[in-house]
Amino acid sequence: MTGVLEVKNLNKSFDGIVVARGINLSLTAGKVLGLIGPNGAGKTSFFNLISGVVKPDSGAVTLAGVSIDRLKSHERVRHGLSRTWQHIRLFPSLTVLDNLLVGTHDYPGESLLSVLLAHARLKQHDKIARERAADVLGRMGLSQVADALVSDLPYGQQKLIGVARALMGDARCLLLDEPMAGVEGQSYAAMQRVVRDAADCGVAVCVVEHNVGFIQDLCDEGVFMFSGAIMARGSVAELIRDPQLTELYFGH
Ligand SMILES: Nc1ncnc2c1ncn2[C@@H]1O[C@H](COP(=O)(O)OP(=O)(O)O)[C@@H](O)[C@H]1O
Ligand SMILES: [Mg+2]
Repeated sequence: MTGVLEVKNLNKSFDGIVVARGINLSLTAGKVLGLIGPNGAGKTSFFNLISGVVKPDSGAVTLAGVSIDRLKSHERVRHGLSRTWQHIRLFPSLTVLDNLLVGTHDYPGESLLSVLLAHARLKQHDKIARERAADVLGRMGLSQVADALVSDLPYGQQKLIGVARALMGDARCLLLDEPMAGVEGQSYAAMQRVVRDAADCGVAVCVVEHNVGFIQDLCDEGVFMFSGAIMARGSVAELIRDPQLTELYFGH
């Protein structure tokens, strides 16, 4: 079965440091894949390469059967590739709701006519976006903070809002970089539920996370990355029991 996201022989090095070493990986609709490995393994770089933030030295990436290698980051987003960042990237002085709504509509164009014609479409779009934001916040248990400033919220809630923002578009593929880092226990269930819901709606999900319990509870399968290479793929339980992988994980 062909994956929603297909990565073929992806390679990248920075000044001699290899961060992607012939990576082949497939992400399947409706499945959550855990990506584990020690710090410096190349996990974030892998997301940067797929999302078009970093240009690979070689390799090919397709999304829903279409080559995205030549697309810019924002074009990949429009094509259904959504991601979060290891470190929060929100607008702290905007409300939670506005953070979710920012960037959800296309720029109408330069001419007065195109703006006027776009007005009705934008209003309709805005209504749909607000409904979606309310739905996502509701499922995360964050409805009561919709009008709060992001800067006034605890770090864990800000992380959840980062994920909520990634779910605002029509994602086909969702890449989550350490969604649980800094998140307190009370947000655990909300994070699990929202990611699982996305997968159940057919999104192909890949999650980087050091919280092994979280990965084990959430993921259908896992891959282990070390020094830019995928070393193993299997059930998360198998991967974390493997003595050689454990040595690689904790030995570095
Ligand atoms: N833009 C960059 N320029 C140079 N080196 C980088 C860059 N991005 C990442 N690296 C290096 O690549 C390696 C992998 O980093 P990273 O992908 O962040 O690993 P991980 O997310 O698994 O901790 C590290 O040694 C890091 O310093
Ligand atoms: Mg990282």
